[in-house]
Amino acid sequence: MKELEKILENAKNEISACEKSADLANVKAKYLGKKSELQELLSKMKDMTVEEKKTIGKEINEVKQSINALVENKNKEIEDKILNEKLESEKIDITLPSKKLRRGSKHPMSRMVEEFEDIFVSMGYTVYEGLEIESDENCFQKLNLPIGHPARDAQDTFYLENEIDRFLLRSQTSTAQVRAMEENKEKGPIRIVCPGKVYRRDEDATHSHQFMQIEGLVIDENISMADLKGTLELFCKKILGEKTKVRFRPSYFPFTEPSVEVDVTCFKCGGKGCNLCKQTGWIEVLGAGMVHPNVLEMSGYDSKKYQGFAFGTGIDRFAMFKYGIPDIRTIYGNDIRFIEQFDRKDED
Ligand code: PHE
Repeated sequence: MKELEKILENAKNEISACEKSADLANVKAKYLGKKSELQELLSKMKDMTVEEKKTIGKEINEVKQSINALVENKNKEIEDKILNEKLESEKIDITLPSKKLRRGSKHPMSRMVEEFEDIFVSMGYTVYEGLEIESDENCFQKLNLPIGHPARDAQDTFYLENEIDRFLLRSQTSTAQVRAMEENKEKGPIRIVCPGKVYRRDEDATHSHQFMQIEGLVIDENISMADLKGTLELFCKKILGEKTKVRFRPSYFPFTEPSVEVDVTCFKCGGKGCNLCKQTGWIEVLGAGMVHPNVLEMSGYDSKKYQGFAFGTGIDRFAMFKYGIPDIRTIYGNDIRFIEQFDRKDED
């Protein structure tokens, strides 16, 4: 039927000319809707013979199906086009430089503490933190400094109100030794480092009322001064550089016997003498010694069976030397500009 061919031909042209879904919907209605030419042809069929109805009906249906398929294809084509355009317009250029994120900086003291901890953990120590508020007993008495002992004067600290219990802000991390020994119920070996805040009645460019120490304690059978010397020499070289020389001088601490003070060759002049080391070539960095038998016994260790060594140092001092900080008060001043500088120093 010529008419049908014409309808299909027209529909084909109009469908392919459509660019939008709305246009396509109109074309679809025009060719397949109730008022379409096809519909009109169908309504004329009632006057036809049965034979005619069969052939023409079939032809009309085929044309309908063809138009439907064309519409569907076109519809998909339009949808794909829309999707592609959307993808194209929303494409993210991952090669563009990102906005600068404001990165926080680690406080120089945290950096120092981590460095200390890394060295000792690599030697098999664990990190143990004591308490900042302590009893007089743990801070002094059990470290061989009974009430009235003259060596307490050097560590005058802040007492809390309750004078009877004599709670105080600990003046040294050695206090953590007592806790660690007493908590170690099996009374077996101990190998710990204890970083933390300590307090004293001090305040000037190199002393702050609050500062940080790190303590080391090793207790075991057959521990000698040689272990102490070897450990501290290794530590000083690791933290200050392989060329560092280490010197041990006799000293006094009530909780160690014998006691030593540890000096290292000046990190600024390498031992020649400068203003930092006051022309001596040496800088004192650690206090140390063999744990006093009284201290072992007071915290439940048999001093015949066990020996130990302990050492303590100021983390602030190390940070001041390492980063060239002239005034300890800036460490605790909370000025962000001060803290941010150390990022750059580490990246250098
Ligand atoms: N606690 C001592 C101080 O603050 C340092 C020290 C620790 C000395 C351990 C000997 C052994 O001065």
